[in-house]
Amino acid sequence: NVKGAEKLKKKSSFSGQIGFVLAAAGSAVGVGNLWRFPYLVARDGGGLFLIIYLVLVLTFGFTLLTTDISIGRKTGQSAIRAYESMRPGWKKLGFLTFMVPVLIMTYYAVIGGWILKYFIVFLTGASGDAAKDSYFTSFITNTSSVWFGLIFMLVTALIVYNGVEGGIERCSKFIMPVLLIMVVCIAIFSLTLKSKGADGVVRTGLDGLKVYIIPDVSGLTVSRFLQVTLDAMSQLFFSLSVSMGIMITYGSYVKKDVDLNKSVAQIEVVDTVVAFLAGVMIIPAIYVFSGMDGMSAGPSLMFVALPKTFYAMGTAGRVIGLVFFLLAAFAALTSCISVLESITANCMEIFHTGRKKTTLVLGVIYLAATAVIALGYSLFYLEIPLPNGTTGQLLDIMDYISNSFLMPFITIFSTILVGWLVKPQWIIEEMEHPNGKFSRKQLYIVMIKFVMPVIMVILFLQSTGLLDR
Ligand code: PHE
Repeated sequence: NVKGAEKLKKKSSFSGQIGFVLAAAGSAVGVGNLWRFPYLVARDGGGLFLIIYLVLVLTFGFTLLTTDISIGRKTGQSAIRAYESMRPGWKKLGFLTFMVPVLIMTYYAVIGGWILKYFIVFLTGASGDAAKDSYFTSFITNTSSVWFGLIFMLVTALIVYNGVEGGIERCSKFIMPVLLIMVVCIAIFSLTLKSKGADGVVRTGLDGLKVYIIPDVSGLTVSRFLQVTLDAMSQLFFSLSVSMGIMITYGSYVKKDVDLNKSVAQIEVVDTVVAFLAGVMIIPAIYVFSGMDGMSAGPSLMFVALPKTFYAMGTAGRVIGLVFFLLAAFAALTSCISVLESITANCMEIFHTGRKKTTLVLGVIYLAATAVIALGYSLFYLEIPLPNGTTGQLLDIMDYISNSFLMPFITIFSTILVGWLVKPQWIIEEMEHPNGKFSRKQLYIVMIKFVMPVIMVILFLQSTGLLDR
């Protein structure tokens, strides 16, 4: 059928394995690797968290990445249509999956905007201001902070507008190698740091490295171990961009001759190495200059403790800070692109519209959404209690619904669908390559059928706060 053939021809794709792996790794490597991972390691017993995380990457991460990418390539479609073509009755699951990027997109550019602001602050030599305690809070509570998020959103839309190979792949092929080099350089620099604290004790970067990698098992109980494991698990899902249809969309752009088995392994490695090195960059630096106090929660690590640490380093800190926020902006951009691309691809398939028109419409919608969420700290300030016992502003709410609620929920059902209805063989066929084999086939079958559904129920109960901690 001519129309079908024409459509097939028009389907965009990555040029080959490298293009695909760099784009997918670009999606995976993001702010999650740069601040959330180091912060969790510091909180959850250093090396203990590292070991658990590594085991989870090789089992859970591998299973989900394999599933998403294979579904994408095999069906050639994004989440909604892909689930529909596996089992028509399961289109609803595809729709829920589609909702994750739809929600994440409302706030990811806001965070990207914050990073952009700090990059500019370091560029203009105002890094001393950024080291002040109230700087971050007064920045986000000022309505003019909206502009940074809008610029970030606009750049993202522009790249997606330029298509899979001409926009996404081209940008990832430039950004990812540069990012890797910058991360390695700062990590090495961090290890050479040395400073005498107010208490007269000299602290070195290598001592900081020990804090990072030596497992702290003092007072470890079973329930604490479980908690650390669950933390590692939710970090892993977020970090690999799985269970949100993004890797399904990217998988749908992979040519049939690409070895998926190798690609999955490479994506796992890049994502994990960058997360590990982010810890080597950040933890020793904070340890040397601020003791470990600065490692406290969430965004304050990236936007308060780090600027302080860079300031304490003197002139070198200004350069390192500049490079750090540049690489963070790069990491956030390639992730943000993947979120918008996945929404765009689903919309194109459902509304049968072209890329340019779809990105234009989505661009306008998300510029508005970015503004609203950014104003959630000023004009639209709300303090909403969340089911897990914390309260949050608009950004936290979107994050909670998408990551703590929808993602584990979707994973429960998608593992049941693939493991028991569609059957693992369906995925395995896609993974077996003419010149290679699916090396972790047995592991995949056990994970998708038995382990994942059970563990995901526990994760869901825990992250929604239904399971008493
Ligand atoms: N994986 C990205 C990170 O580690 C986050 C992300 C989540 C990207 C969802 C895209 C979609 O930061």
